[in-house]
Amino acid sequence: MDHFDYRDGVLYAEQVPLTRIADEVGTPCYVYSRATLTRHFRAYAEALGGHPHLICYAVKANSNLAVLDLLARLGAGFDIVSVGELERVLAAGGDPAKVVFSGVAKQEAEMARALDVGIKCFNVESRPELERLSRVAERLGTVAPVSLRVNPDVDAGTHPYISTGLKENKFGIPVDEALAVYELAATLPGVKVVGLDCHIGSQLTELAPFLDALDRLLLLLERLRERGIEVEHLDLGGGLGVPYRDERPPQPFDYAASLLERLARWEGGERLTLLFEPGRSIAANAGVLLTRVEYLKPGESKNFAIVDAGMNDLIRPSLYQAWQAILPADTRPVRESAIYDVVGPVCETGDFLGKDRPLAIAEGDLLAVRSAGAYGFVMASNYNSRPRPAEVMVDAGRYQIVRQRETLSDLWAGESRLLDDDAEGE
Ligand code: LLP
Repeated sequence: MDHFDYRDGVLYAEQVPLTRIADEVGTPCYVYSRATLTRHFRAYAEALGGHPHLICYAVKANSNLAVLDLLARLGAGFDIVSVGELERVLAAGGDPAKVVFSGVAKQEAEMARALDVGIKCFNVESRPELERLSRVAERLGTVAPVSLRVNPDVDAGTHPYISTGLKENKFGIPVDEALAVYELAATLPGVKVVGLDCHIGSQLTELAPFLDALDRLLLLLERLRERGIEVEHLDLGGGLGVPYRDERPPQPFDYAASLLERLARWEGGERLTLLFEPGRSIAANAGVLLTRVEYLKPGESKNFAIVDAGMNDLIRPSLYQAWQAILPADTRPVRESAIYDVVGPVCETGDFLGKDRPLAIAEGDLLAVRSAGAYGFVMASNYNSRPRPAEVMVDAGRYQIVRQRETLSDLWAGESRLLDDDAEGE
């Protein structure tokens, strides 16, 4: 459930009409709802009840400082994949002791910084990474807490670009090799085994793949136990899907209940701390992208609604053919309805936000692209020299700009003209 609703024909974020934000802040503009983020985070926390757990929000989904600040205040930990994300978490007041570090290409300097601030755990994705981490930790006179990210080879039944737990994916250590790598870890001086980790994909709409993965991880834990290797936590990654259209993904409550039920049948399961790395299920439906109709361009085979946000602002429709609802922010004016492709200003045929959408709109109208709180702004670029949008956080009847719209001169900040003044071509 979220806090974007129509009241008397006008779309609101909590108690603020989106038309007001667009008028005052301009478009395109991302708008997040604090109450929705809070609700989604708490759904996880409450679902896990008294079982020891830590919810490490996946920073990649939406890394705005205000979002991180809010989640840190709610008690979240964080799943990071770069030193940039680590610094964001710290800048937002997050607790480094609740940070887990995922990612296949961790560099030495990133490892060193993470060790320096004392993160909770490194989710190690390969044997050479484990060896490198041990060397870096030893050099710094410390010991790195590690989990191995294993690839359980389960089909998450999701889009090929966002499925990560299959053999052919680059992520994690194949479950059959994991035992040997754990044995190696036990002998390396710079690392200490604390956990076991997996992440099988994103936008999962069924529980079965999660439960299959859990079963495979528990089998591995038993084999580790036989070899005297015990872990404190089991990290099941992120991946719970959200309704974009008519999907009915399981709620955190059902997800947690099924996991806890399996774990209860496993010896020592009640002591095993559970970690989760949800991104989308916390942020996606807590945000919208506001965009204004610049032109309506009727055609023989297609009508186009050309809007001021493009694939550089929200790339999910272009990149994954993702469907996100597009709604008029004010339905009171009487308009003729037609079927439109909602397209952006970028010079690419693939620049669209939605196709074949029935909309009753006119030039100048405001549209809200829903479910844009995750993998929205974070994937925005400056392609076509377009400044990235502003970001706004609504809290009940107020709002705050939590990131200013980029200015035109921001576009070439850090660039320079040539140093010499030679004329060319003479
Ligand atoms: N943990 C790890 C190690 C991950 O790789 C991811 C996402 C997450 C957690 C969070 O997963 P979530 O709960 O958000 O499903 N850009 C794509 C999604 C890419 C997800 C990558 N990994 C999209 O817009 O659909």
